[in-house]
Amino acid sequence: NNLKTHFNKQFLVGSAINAQQAKQTQTDTDALIIAQFNSITPENEMKWERIHPKPEVYDFTLGDEYVDYGQANNMFTIGHTLVWHSQTPDWVFEDAQGKPLSREALLARMKEHIHTVVGRYKGKIKGWDIVNEALNEDGSLRDSKWREIIGDDYIEKAFTYAHAADPKAELYYNDYNMYKPEKSAGAARLIKSLQSKGIPVHGVGLQGHYSLTHPDLRELDEALNLFASLGIKSMITELDVSVLPFPNEAEQGADINQDLALQKTLNPYPDGLPEDKQVALSKRYKDIFTVLISHQASLSRVTFWGVNDANSWRNNWPMQGRTDYPLLFDRENKPKLAYQVLMDL
Ligand code: XIL
Repeated sequence: NNLKTHFNKQFLVGSAINAQQAKQTQTDTDALIIAQFNSITPENEMKWERIHPKPEVYDFTLGDEYVDYGQANNMFTIGHTLVWHSQTPDWVFEDAQGKPLSREALLARMKEHIHTVVGRYKGKIKGWDIVNEALNEDGSLRDSKWREIIGDDYIEKAFTYAHAADPKAELYYNDYNMYKPEKSAGAARLIKSLQSKGIPVHGVGLQGHYSLTHPDLRELDEALNLFASLGIKSMITELDVSVLPFPNEAEQGADINQDLALQKTLNPYPDGLPEDKQVALSKRYKDIFTVLISHQASLSRVTFWGVNDANSWRNNWPMQGRTDYPLLFDRENKPKLAYQVLMDL
């Protein structure tokens, strides 16, 4: 009775893990990860600020532990992420005097970083989120230091460098809100343009930071159809389902009958998630997985963003310090009703 076996015929089932978990010091959680998942993603440990904190300094301590963990447990090990506007130090874009780099100098730095990091884990990391969150909500390219200095082709350069560093690794484009028609159309344009230039791109990652009401699953279904039509794999790379409304949902025109107080309360359920919310969460997970299973031909992996509710980033996003319950395992690592419901699918 575990996720990886249950969905064996459909897709890999993964989890993001953090540095403590890769050290195998949290015995219960480690046993759970190994029993349940056949893929892992590093929650923070391979982001630029961690693995390459200063111009001449790489720190592979946590990255190595993470990759060893994946190897030891025979897991499809993901690298996350190489080129992103976030969790990337300012110095990356500046010279020693603090002046903005030229296009050529930033490309050289990007290439060096990608060759060093991808090269180190060649053959061990099977798939990389090469570029993360490069699109605006309307599907146009987001302004970032990468784009400002290099130009729109920074994306294709990143894929090209990664392919040279490990020709066998799968290379992905990863983003959030990919169910939105305009954004998925933008991602499709981006992927087609890479394909038309012969640049290898093997998959698209849909992050999946959802809630009980968002997204509209018909849009998710459509987005998965669109990506399948490009002949690439899709994956849900960062799944979690908040049981709490976004703090500004009402202002955004969402269901204004929602409890406004609930939106602002940091710990609305001090005695734990009540039964009706457990049921709502499990129904939501069932609906999401029903869509995902229907796309099993092109969907290669579903990765949860965290193992249990205690270590989920949703406790700090979109509101700092809010107690949330977005995953399949509770704060004691016990499977929730949502887990049972998925195991019945
Ligand atoms: C998040 C981590 O979970 C947090 O611990 C960290 O403080 C911020 O980043 N999109 C991504 C992930 O691609 O890397 C982010 O992870 C969540 C949003």
